[in-house]
Amino acid sequence: MTGLGARGLVAGYGAATVLRGVDLAVSPGEIVAVLGHNGAGKSTLLKAIFGLLPLDDGRIAIGGVDVTSAGSHDRVRHGLAYSPQQQFVFATLSVRENFGLARFAVGASAPPTADRLVEVFELFPILAERLNQRAGTLSGGQQRMLSIAMAMLTEPTVMLLDEPSLGVAPTVIRDLMAALRTLAADRGLAVVVVEQNVRQAVEVADRVCVLKRGEVVHEGPADEALVARDDLWTLL
Ligand SMILES: Nc1ncnc2c1ncn2[C@@H]1O[C@H](COP(=O)(O)OP(=O)(O)O)[C@@H](O)[C@H]1O
Ligand SMILES: [Mg+2]
Repeated sequence: MTGLGARGLVAGYGAATVLRGVDLAVSPGEIVAVLGHNGAGKSTLLKAIFGLLPLDDGRIAIGGVDVTSAGSHDRVRHGLAYSPQQQFVFATLSVRENFGLARFAVGASAPPTADRLVEVFELFPILAERLNQRAGTLSGGQQRMLSIAMAMLTEPTVMLLDEPSLGVAPTVIRDLMAALRTLAADRGLAVVVVEQNVRQAVEVADRVCVLKRGEVVHEGPADEALVARDDLWTLL
């Protein structure tokens, strides 16, 4: 299948198993929100998919290509992009230099094309005004936009976003979520977005997946009914 296909993922830190057989499939154009308590394993799941943690079991495919034994670098070349929960930009470099490094990650020696930059600046106009500013001096929300813009510049088919709304002003969150919807609809991008807030997740996602102690305990459409479901709240 195209998009993301992850099956039976088992991974953790040393002897501590965190993911206990997680399945996650996301089609092109689809946005899946991963919900769950602090410590449920959401960030660990994204790290495992990006290849930052060795798998004890399971398989991962990007765009129909099995990347289970590939490093993160190769996964990026196969269309995977990742905006982590923390440390998502190169703080001492300018916005422009951060863009250059994003391209370098996919092995492109040329800077981003004008078309691609126009697209990024349409979504995040503030970045065009801050090209020469050091990334570390941007606000939290602007750094998050830069991180997502860098992910976009690698021209991914699958994007992993770990709590993009963390520390970001509500108006900026709305822009970010609208940007994700546009990327999914226009680009056929498959998106996995980790969210703490059920309401927020329901607004942006097509489907939700709830993790508890490293297992998927609920999966289903992201509709308004979900917000009212008592049993879902107890899972979180
Ligand atoms: N680098 C690490 N080393 C050891 N344990 C970790 C590490 N990162 C996370 N953990 C543990 O793994 C579990 C899942 O963490 P995490 O995936 O960050 O959860 P979430 O993102 O859902 O809040 C937690 O028990 C956490 O303490
Ligand atoms: Mg986390």
